[in-house]
Amino acid sequence: MNARPPSKPSPPLNARPLLNRRLDGLGTTIFAEMSALATATGAINLGQGFPDTDGPEEIREAAVRALREGKGNQYPPGPGIPELRAAISDHQRRFYGLGFDPDTEVLVTAGATEAIAAAMLALLEPDDEVIAFEPFYDSYTACIAMAGAKRVPLTLRAPSFRPDLDELRARITPRTRLLLLNTPHNPTGMVLTAGEQSAIAALAVEHDLLVVTDEVYEHLVYEGTHHPIAALPGMRERTVTISSAGKTFSFTGWKVGWVTADGPLVSAVRTAKQYLTYVSAGPFQYAIAEALRLPDSYFDRFRADLGRKRDLLGDGLRAAGFEVYQPQGTYFITTDITPFGEKDAYAFCRALPERCGVVAIPNSVFYDDPDAGRSQVRFTFCKREDVLRDATARLRRLAG
Ligand SMILES: Cc1ncc(COP(=O)(O)O)c(C=O)c1O
Repeated sequence: MNARPPSKPSPPLNARPLLNRRLDGLGTTIFAEMSALATATGAINLGQGFPDTDGPEEIREAAVRALREGKGNQYPPGPGIPELRAAISDHQRRFYGLGFDPDTEVLVTAGATEAIAAAMLALLEPDDEVIAFEPFYDSYTACIAMAGAKRVPLTLRAPSFRPDLDELRARITPRTRLLLLNTPHNPTGMVLTAGEQSAIAALAVEHDLLVVTDEVYEHLVYEGTHHPIAALPGMRERTVTISSAGKTFSFTGWKVGWVTADGPLVSAVRTAKQYLTYVSAGPFQYAIAEALRLPDSYFDRFRADLGRKRDLLGDGLRAAGFEVYQPQGTYFITTDITPFGEKDAYAFCRALPERCGVVAIPNSVFYDDPDAGRSQVRFTFCKREDVLRDATARLRRLAG
């Protein structure tokens, strides 16, 4: 029997760091850290925004049926199954009067996350500048970095978090390629008004900018109305609108998102998607095609339910001593911890599970400026009412 050759020490790996500079520092998200803390301590997780109740039973059944009937178990069409593209197109017409050709102007993606990534990779060249609201939803930072572009913050400041439109104008340079909007805005809950949308649209037209608008919370507006910027004059040909079934139908694990835009924009984003995931999961697409055709009563009830939960958590946070910034949309509430004599939201959130058995997210992680948002903490209210009541009772311990 041959003796095994003595094992050689493995050669040292290339001395260069493995993670490239664009992504350095973006490795572990705060959501993972805080969710791990929730698991380790058994605390109520009001950190990451996912519902603790699944969406409509008939939509779950539709997914099971599709799977059993062999619909979508093999690669579905790249742009998405025709039934879902038609349903997305009809949804845009039904709620906003916007017409998109399901064959050329709609793209199904693996959640809004892939739509954001594919849009950034498709539409940006290295060193282009992207103006986005700060606090930034975390995947914007990463996707702009992966595209080699530069983010330029337009900071939303408490208590109203309204964008300063003069500041927006001042941020536009010859290198600005794109405005990345998010309304309703995560984490602040700010919803752009019709007037703000018009002013932003006028700037985009004047400077010939593209607009990518993340509207995943479009059906969760409690004050005001959601206005898609794509509906404004001169905007259709320059706007990529992104949404997702995860938020509207409480199936965040299915990762069904979509893009609606003019044909050339959709085909650019589709080219990037082709090499990211190629296609999105099949059977869920059949189910979401049915979900998008649910009657208005579904959307009304969903919003009313979350609106009640917003009030329940908001009242509880106020009673516990937080300064509460009332959100107009989304399922998040941003608060300030200064009334507790504290300033460091990250330290506060790391200690919160021990102090009272609740997990939240420090907004400071959504800012470039380490001092901006330093004392802000975000809580989600997309949980069952009994869970929110339990959480607010626990938070009352902070009131001493
Ligand atoms: C503003 C915003 N955009 C996109 C996403 C991601 O959506 P999806 O789960 O469909 O990828 C989220 C999820 O929290 C979000 O808050």
